[in-house]
Amino acid sequence: GKVRAPTHIISTISDDRGEEPCYAGVPMSSIIEKGFGVGDVISLLWFKRSLPRYCTHFIEICIMLCADHGPCVSGAHNTIVTARAGKDLVSSLVSGLLTIGPRFGGAIDDAARYFKDAHDRGLTPYEFVEGMKKKGIRVAGIGHRIKNRDNKDKRVELLQKFARTHFPSVKYMEYAVQVETYTLTKANNLVLNVDGAIGSLFLDLLAGSGMFTKQEIDEIVEIGYLNGLFVLARSIGLIGHTFDQKRLKQPLYRHPWEDVLYTK
Ligand code: ACO
Ligand code: LMR
Repeated sequence: GKVRAPTHIISTISDDRGEEPCYAGVPMSSIIEKGFGVGDVISLLWFKRSLPRYCTHFIEICIMLCADHGPCVSGAHNTIVTARAGKDLVSSLVSGLLTIGPRFGGAIDDAARYFKDAHDRGLTPYEFVEGMKKKGIRVAGIGHRIKNRDNKDKRVELLQKFARTHFPSVKYMEYAVQVETYTLTKANNLVLNVDGAIGSLFLDLLAGSGMFTKQEIDEIVEIGYLNGLFVLARSIGLIGHTFDQKRLKQPLYRHPWEDVLYTK
């Protein structure tokens, strides 16, 4: 019989051996002929399947809304400082990307994990939030430095509006909104943030599309695919900030002494 030489790598998402590359079995020519967008490519390469148009449109909206949030946020600040230190594009980009994490942009997976667990266990928002407080864990997806009850995040509203119109169910998002209603009774800035909106809505997308088994949804949440949306999106803005600083020929950045509290 045939003897198969052992391989050192297993790969299941793409194949470049034929006449044209394939993403999850779909040839490049078909991707172009069918007028697929970046949401479809993400569906194929991350989820290994073609998703319905409203899902790929939602993914594209997440990417567009998170592409940038001005020069003052953690990621852009790092990128700007790095570009002004004369570093190259990749160094400037990754220096910004490295700030993405539990406080900034990288709370999407934890928001999905905690909202899913609390919703599926039937916890009231009070039980969920107070339970997290007892454990000393901040509620991922809640809270913002500059947004608050009277200055809500437009991006969250836009995502909610799209999902309410196009998703078959928005039960996880509604649960997140109930959590927000409770946290807003504690402090004005404990709003549902863009990470929390994407985390809860992606649960609705996964559960409502009928394209994923329960086990697959658990795996996606457990592995943590969803921060990838913010990383991918914000790379667009961070690359833009790098070009901006280079175009403006900005000198080396040095933080002013006056803005530091020197103390013992
Ligand atoms: N859950 C519970 N309590 C909170 C939360 C939260 N998510 N956020 C703030 N608080 C409360 C806490 O009591 C905190 O006191 P502590 O320091 O003793 O825990 C108090 O508010 C003040 O906290 P600060 O860190 O000063 O609040 P700030 O406005 O600076 O924090 C931040 C903003 C970092 C986003 C925070 O709300 C947080 O950690 N949220 C969870 C992570 C998250 O969702 N990040 C994504 C933000 S959106 C984005 O980056 C694109
Ligand atoms: C962002 O998208 O970068 C922001 O929500 C974070 C911030 O500090 O404004």
